[in-house]
Amino acid sequence: MEPEPINWNSISDIIKKHQDEKWGLIPLLQEIQESIGYIPPDSIEQIAQALKLPASHVQGVITFYSGFATEPKGKCVLKVCRGTACHVKGGKSVLNMIKKELNLEEGKTSSDYQFTIETVACLGACFLAPTLMANRDYYGRLSPKKITGILNQYGKLKGDE
Ligand code: FES
Repeated sequence: MEPEPINWNSISDIIKKHQDEKWGLIPLLQEIQESIGYIPPDSIEQIAQALKLPASHVQGVITFYSGFATEPKGKCVLKVCRGTACHVKGGKSVLNMIKKELNLEEGKTSSDYQFTIETVACLGACFLAPTLMANRDYYGRLSPKKITGILNQYGKLKGDE
């Protein structure tokens, strides 16, 4: 399956808004990511020209900040906590179960662009350990039953591989 087509109009509008703002590179990149979910590599040249920066600088900033993605992600991005509190409460089993259920490795996106699995150092909700985020929603005190419910809710229908 193909990812959704890139909305270049939206990208151009954001770039225009920050035209000539050398200092505006990070907010600009954040806005593009917020708008379409990632920074298409084909937009780097356009961004660099608008901000009068070398393209290598733009590329360097994107590479440096791990929060920026250059590939499309799934409709549901699962962020599984691998922090200490969650680890103690079985965070590793949570991650393993999700990987198995979705037949997907950490850091990867499913071929139907439904799910992406990521891990994070701490979701800031240690009292709910083990935790994960599905897009902007937090889920805590996870059990296998809860995990199955979350995956079903975000699109993995029973019996799917
Ligand atoms: S260690 Fe998992 S939320 Fe903090």
